[in-house]
Amino acid sequence: MTEFKRTLITSALPYANGPVHIGHLAGVYVPADIYARYLRMNGEEVAFIGGSDEHGVPITLKAKNEGVTPQDIVDKYHGMIKDSFKRFGISFDIYARTSDPIHYQTASEIFLKLYQDGKFVEKTSEQYYDAENKQFLADRYITGTCPKCGFEKAYGDQCESCGSALSPNELINPKSMISGNVPELKETKHWYLPLDQYEGWLKEWILAGHKEWKSNVYGQCKSWIDGGLQPRAVTRDLDWGIPVPLEGADGKVLYVWFDAPIGYISATKEWTLEWEKWWKDPETKLVHFIGKDNIVFHCIIFPIILKAEGSYILPENVPANEFLNLEGDKISTSRNWAVWLHEYLEEFPGKEDVLKYVLTANAPETKDNDFTWKDFQARNNNELVAVLGNFVNRALVLTQKYYDGKVPAAGVLSEADVSALVEISLIKADVEKSISQYRFREALKFAMDLARLGNKYLADAEPWKVVKTDPLRVETIMNVCLQITANLTIILAPFLPFSMDKLRIFLNIDELNWSNLGRSDLLKVGHQTNTPELLFEKIEDEVIEFQVNKLLATKKANEAANAQAAPAKENCTFDDFNKMDIRTGTILEAERVPKTKKLLKLTIDTGIDQRTVVSGIAEYYNPEEIIGQQVSILVNLEPKELKGIQSQGMILMAQDADGSLKFVTPVSPVKNGSEIK
Ligand code: MF3
Ligand code: ZN
Repeated sequence: MTEFKRTLITSALPYANGPVHIGHLAGVYVPADIYARYLRMNGEEVAFIGGSDEHGVPITLKAKNEGVTPQDIVDKYHGMIKDSFKRFGISFDIYARTSDPIHYQTASEIFLKLYQDGKFVEKTSEQYYDAENKQFLADRYITGTCPKCGFEKAYGDQCESCGSALSPNELINPKSMISGNVPELKETKHWYLPLDQYEGWLKEWILAGHKEWKSNVYGQCKSWIDGGLQPRAVTRDLDWGIPVPLEGADGKVLYVWFDAPIGYISATKEWTLEWEKWWKDPETKLVHFIGKDNIVFHCIIFPIILKAEGSYILPENVPANEFLNLEGDKISTSRNWAVWLHEYLEEFPGKEDVLKYVLTANAPETKDNDFTWKDFQARNNNELVAVLGNFVNRALVLTQKYYDGKVPAAGVLSEADVSALVEISLIKADVEKSISQYRFREALKFAMDLARLGNKYLADAEPWKVVKTDPLRVETIMNVCLQITANLTIILAPFLPFSMDKLRIFLNIDELNWSNLGRSDLLKVGHQTNTPELLFEKIEDEVIEFQVNKLLATKKANEAANAQAAPAKENCTFDDFNKMDIRTGTILEAERVPKTKKLLKLTIDTGIDQRTVVSGIAEYYNPEEIIGQQVSILVNLEPKELKGIQSQGMILMAQDADGSLKFVTPVSPVKNGSEIK
């Protein structure tokens, strides 16, 4: 096994086409941050890299939808994302962006090097082209029916219904998303990375060499490799991206998945002149934190790029997470089904750590998980408040009360004292093991065991009782409680950095290195502690209800927007249609049908006669307001008795997406009795 000297941590560069949500945080940024903080506390040399991914078709699509330029979009969201990460306390060493000149330069250089070394295959092929808009269609600009599952709105690169990776020419009934037309095929030249040539090497490097990778990651790699790899185009016909640095490549840019991971390198360059030691020295351990939809790019394609280039190190691990759902549904930016970080920060000021805690305790490390507001509340109230907060608060308050805040001396230790102190070292070992295997959820549980232990120790020792009979014994108890509290500031610091900063202020101590964990002399006798405030506060039901209602409102809005037009009925003949005698008429009288919610009794002048019609429109129209309204009426419908009233005919109504009904009426008044045909 290689001995590493330093660790280079990268976190997937979020697309700058929307704000960051809890799915991003739980999948990537929270675990990466815990890892970075933990290693730093161990005195290790760490680089923690982040940045915005500012290319790619989703960004151009969003710009088009909003009628602004792609640059406007990325400027807006890059700023927003960067700011919310900062406020949330993700401890990036640099948060860069892929529209930066240094990135253009780096990506172009790597492309050129591969080109000059003959690592690409040049191919002319037929690709979809929108003749009306005179442009080739990127995969994301084409929709059609998925050949695998039949979903009708699959994209040219992926079906979001069944998750299959697709190529545009596999789509059935392809359509241009720009013009809505059926696209035509047109020849174009591109550069391909021959992934197939690296199959043997990938088998060695991953399948044989990295059996320790998480099983979800290893499994996905294996199925890609076993399924056989195809050459992949690394250029696109698009006007948003890094221009292909070759002659005769006008109108072509680097594929976003070619340039984005190189963003990690350019960000490192921007951060330090010594970037090469981070990327080219085999004693650097490279770890990519990503979500599961990024596995193939980070485990197969980017490593092939680095390998083909020849002078770079490869990732040592790629601890990809599964997905976090929200209240039972897939998180979706376009459907606004998310808890947005910037909104959380506004609505829960000072509670950054609560969210970090919940997202770690419930992290989707091995399978998809669900975030619910109820669980958020329960974990805050039952764990952070009732266990951790309660323990440290009592330890500090009693110290104030008994000793004016000065740390008392420990006397002879009882068995319970010794076992509590010994336990700290065992917990330390557990946490270290879990973190080294990227099991942050388990690590947090172990770390919280120390708070649970402290809480139990204090409850069992009952200093508030003992103080009356054996004050010397209480000094020992309080000393042990305070030493445990000081240890908590170390063990929980990677997970709850803001709260542990606060706790250190209460204890009046400096930041402690991880190696101090387990010591029972972190606080010297006589050391002055401060009056504490509450570390966590209970979250009330109203707060949670507000959040749940906000989501319900989103759901309603989506349902209304998505209400699908009813599918077309079976064909009918003209004769079928002609059987219906539909006329214009005018409402002369209207009244509610007693004891019903929906029915109005209408008297209609049909031009032929005056007749009574019972109509189910009472929820949408008041009787008074429709007198004189011209309507369309089916006059030869078989009469029917409704609530004791003979109804002679039917008023035609259009039903909107939300179920509401509206009259179908000639655009300007016509003579009553006019035929509708
Ligand atoms: N923007 C991509 C996504 O959100 C992730 C890019 S990661 C990088 O899925 F490595 F390409 F930068
Ligand atoms: Zn599908």
